[in-house]
Amino acid sequence: MERTLSIIKPDGVSRGIIGEVIKRLENNDISVKAMKMIHMTQPQAEGFYAVHKERPFFESLTAFMTSGPVVVMVLEGDNVISRYRDLMGATNFKEAAEGTIRRDFATDIEKNVVHGSDAPETAAFEIGYFFNSFEIIS
Ligand code: CMP
Repeated sequence: MERTLSIIKPDGVSRGIIGEVIKRLENNDISVKAMKMIHMTQPQAEGFYAVHKERPFFESLTAFMTSGPVVVMVLEGDNVISRYRDLMGATNFKEAAEGTIRRDFATDIEKNVVHGSDAPETAAFEIGYFFNSFEIIS
């Protein structure tokens, strides 16, 4: 069993596709073990995306991620990090495979509906960034 962090980004929340994303998780044997809706502050978004702070899109990305509420979730399942990334599709929705969340709903490389951790170490950092152990169902 593995865990990963999922974020339904402000575009996904405002367009009413929280349920659609969760349905796809549940249809693929991925369990939600923690979930909350938050509206990130600028420092929170900058801390979460600190790994990208030198990238040209950092300012725009953190502005977008603080533009409205997001849903953060801890997901659990076999090989869930890579299976959830497969469900999301490529970062750039134009390169995402048919039937993926980003291919179906993203409108922009930045406004790409969902986020998922890319490796076990990243997942541990990202889950701990939003949740303490009491908030995660074991
Ligand atoms: P995410 O998986 O959350 O990780 C970093 C985010 O930066 C990415 O999804 C996009 O929302 C955003 N982003 C914006 N521009 C780019 C870009 N050129 N390359 C990668 N990510 C980008």
